[in-house]
Amino acid sequence: MAQFKYGSSTPSEVLSDLAAKNNVSVLDKDFQVFLDANDDLANLRDDFLIPKKATSPGVECNDKDQNESCVYFCGNSLGLQPKSAQQDTKKVLQNWELNSIECHKVGYLPAIDCDNHARDGMAKIVGCHRDEVVIMNGLTVNLHLLMVSFYQPTQSRHKILIEEHAFPSDYYVVRSQIQQRGFDPDTSMLLLKPRKGEEIFRMKDVLEVIEKEGDSIALVMLPGVQYFTGQVFDMETITCTAHAKGCYVGFDLAHAVGNIELDLHDWDVDFACWCTYKYLNSGPGNLGGAFVHKKFDDTKLPKFLGWWGHRESTRFEMSNDLDFASGVESYRLSNPPPLLVACVLASLKVFDKTSIRKLREKSFLLTGYFEFLLKHYFSKQLGSTKPSVEILTPTNFNERGCQLSLRFSCSLLEVSSKLKKQGMIFDTRQPNVMRVSPVPLYNTFHDVYQFIQALRKALSS
Ligand SMILES: Cc1ncc(COP(=O)(O)O)c(C=O)c1O
Repeated sequence: MAQFKYGSSTPSEVLSDLAAKNNVSVLDKDFQVFLDANDDLANLRDDFLIPKKATSPGVECNDKDQNESCVYFCGNSLGLQPKSAQQDTKKVLQNWELNSIECHKVGYLPAIDCDNHARDGMAKIVGCHRDEVVIMNGLTVNLHLLMVSFYQPTQSRHKILIEEHAFPSDYYVVRSQIQQRGFDPDTSMLLLKPRKGEEIFRMKDVLEVIEKEGDSIALVMLPGVQYFTGQVFDMETITCTAHAKGCYVGFDLAHAVGNIELDLHDWDVDFACWCTYKYLNSGPGNLGGAFVHKKFDDTKLPKFLGWWGHRESTRFEMSNDLDFASGVESYRLSNPPPLLVACVLASLKVFDKTSIRKLREKSFLLTGYFEFLLKHYFSKQLGSTKPSVEILTPTNFNERGCQLSLRFSCSLLEVSSKLKKQGMIFDTRQPNVMRVSPVPLYNTFHDVYQFIQALRKALSS
């Protein structure tokens, strides 16, 4: 892999250096103007519909703000709408209108193989071959389908390793899969815990658990990026260590895909699943993505079957002959929905104008700038009663994506409500964390600056 542009410097060092070379301070208003003016990816924002203060629920908006945009830092939850999504879905509807049943085969995005159109773009984003990836179903459904294959418990090897406080759906998937196979979740679910008093997992500890418990672990099922803290897991090393102990390895990439660089094939990951509505901007509840490594193409893994997993060449013979496609294609159960695929493609078209590497380089500065200003204005001062902000997410750039998870010394509810009124959009997670994600695809340095000003106002009033 090519050397990362900023080498081993920290975002704070690079930003301070850049500011000094331009005779400003990182804190100056002029600096965000400079950063936006020198952002090679700035024009990608034009491909998205940015929510306006006038139409966003809960935002206080006077006449002069009517045309102002909100600061949208919620791409970790729901990406923004690509401008072309509406016209592309309209084209699908028109194809159905004009060609009726033939819309399966002709016109814009023929239904019969519409999902295949997303495979090249998706493969580029997750670092795999085209025939290792499909889009289908939702994330939770895909986790279940793939665990039918990759969770094969025996009396001596029946555990699934998952992190403590995993996203609830993942937790339920794991528990119910264990139960379905006749094992007891209380003994077969192995919870990975951070050290006492810590929230970030130390990779050394993660590997140690796999080394120590690996002989009884059937499946390691961890996140690429942890949803609550924004921590990146070292997927390559985890995979290698778990394989050496004979475990299968799968990742939930909901918060990693479109956010950090992924190399699923070369890392030798067995399977992975993700949703496409966060950093991949495909719209609420849209189809999920699934990866199965090519090395399983000729392996007969147990799986649930449906007609869409059949080879395309024999699918319509309707013969009940089990002529299933190889690899991940065989997991497709139902025919794909072109209306949804059109939205996935609208976003992939934008990703195709750049690369995850370039987005990461912008993210280095963008989230770095956010972190710098947060630390400057809101770090806890000894002996002070002023409200302060703690950043839970790791400082090391390699251990985080664009999200920062924040914890306040004062009421989260009050701060959130004051920020929302000013047009700041982010999300909160129980019990006490605000997740804020400057997304390099469509956010600006000016957005970060505005958020910090809004937070200063919220915390001083
Ligand atoms: C980490 C993680 N896992 C699972 C899910 C559930 O996704 P879905 O509702 O698409 O199945 C989410 C949704 O936000 C998530 O963030």
